[in-house]
Amino acid sequence: MIGKLNHVAIVVPDLAAASATYRSTLGADVSDPVDLPDHGVTTVFVNLPNTKIELLHPLGEDSPVAKFLEKNKDGGIHHICYEVDDIIAARDRLVADGARILGNGEPKTGAHGKPVLFLHPKDFYGTLVEIEQC
Ligand code: CO
Repeated sequence: MIGKLNHVAIVVPDLAAASATYRSTLGADVSDPVDLPDHGVTTVFVNLPNTKIELLHPLGEDSPVAKFLEKNKDGGIHHICYEVDDIIAARDRLVADGARILGNGEPKTGAHGKPVLFLHPKDFYGTLVEIEQC
């Protein structure tokens, strides 16, 4: 069911510093910061030949990554995102298999303008999993 690894998301305490690390030290293609108010994050996209890294930083009061950063002051891997062809079919199959979908179970529009869902980390070996319809 799952396809390509779309991205790995890393929460960082300082977006400018992290962007510089990826651009200069690691020599990657790094975007400018993009605010995603609906998701409570500012994102920088690191475009690699076979996937993307998303650097995330809290935006606004109720950011879902603020607590993560409190617990992990140096930052850390927050989630991984797999591509699926049909997010509703994928969701229904996951739910039928007993996996838990976070939120109200309906897809939201993700960072790339495509529908996404998040799956409970306890069902996937301690890893927050995002699925994105591509
Ligand atoms: Co993501």
